[in-house]
Amino acid sequence: MSTSSCRKRFLLFLLALLSCQNEALISRSSEPRTHTRNNKPLLGTKAGTAEFQVDTDIKIKIRDCKYGELHPVSHLVLDAFYADKPNDIFMHMYRLAELNRLQQNFPYADQMMKHRMLVAMASDNNNNDDIVGFVDVDARTAPPNKEYKHNPRPMLSDLMVNPRMRRKGIAKQLVQRCEEICRQDFQETELYIRVLKDNEAAIAMYDSLGYSIYDNPGDPPEVRLLLKQFEPIETVL
Ligand SMILES: CC(C)(COP(=O)(O)OP(=O)(O)OC[C@H]1O[C@@H](n2cnc3c(N)ncnc32)[C@H](O)[C@@H]1OP(=O)(O)O)[C@@H](O)C(=O)NCCC(=O)NCCS
Repeated sequence: MSTSSCRKRFLLFLLALLSCQNEALISRSSEPRTHTRNNKPLLGTKAGTAEFQVDTDIKIKIRDCKYGELHPVSHLVLDAFYADKPNDIFMHMYRLAELNRLQQNFPYADQMMKHRMLVAMASDNNNNDDIVGFVDVDARTAPPNKEYKHNPRPMLSDLMVNPRMRRKGIAKQLVQRCEEICRQDFQETELYIRVLKDNEAAIAMYDSLGYSIYDNPGDPPEVRLLLKQFEPIETVL
């Protein structure tokens, strides 16, 4: 065999090896996160899951978000937070920016004891699945932030429900699952939420769940910080 054909075969072999590794990375990234990077099983992943019926023919399941589901979640972000810009020519770019933000922030298995992303998945009688809700709950120390002088944790953020599935109790369930995660998995006794002062729907919901205003000097004037404190979980020895 000539030297050049040997070189070609070697290059092809390298390319094949690389693409195999890529495939493995892609498939691994969309698996449910049940193990850490050291292959240790995760403890306490039950908190944060729920199943309930919203209409006679629609069942909602709340569970951890998978990496591959961030794509549909980014569409949900547009419906929830960009509804005032329906004809904006930059909509596609906003979605990609939101997708990138969610991907960068995605909690891999070994971060899940401090940070979780949950989805609400709707299934009808024909087993058609659709992501209709999302929330993020984060107990990691917040990095320095120009906008917020005091940025307490754990913080709930990115709560959203598909407009056609609102007023069915989905957001309330998502928030309650985050509270459960805070107490059981993060071992925290409080949860903070930032909300815009004019977001009447969200404020009414947090109020009905027992959140109250937490005075946080230095926050932007249009923002309100809310807090709920819980009883610590009793540890059984
Ligand atoms: C706020 C939001 C998450 C609520 O989702 P939802 O699934 O419709 O909320 P729920 O059905 O669980 O409602 C729970 C309670 O909140 C209050 N509420 C919800 N939507 C409301 C509205 N439009 N007006 C007044 N109260 C409202 C009610 O008290 C409601 O209880 P009730 O239906 O028994 O009266 C949803 O409207 C949304 O995605 N909005 C856009 C994104 C957003 O603002 N996120 C919050 C950021 S902090």
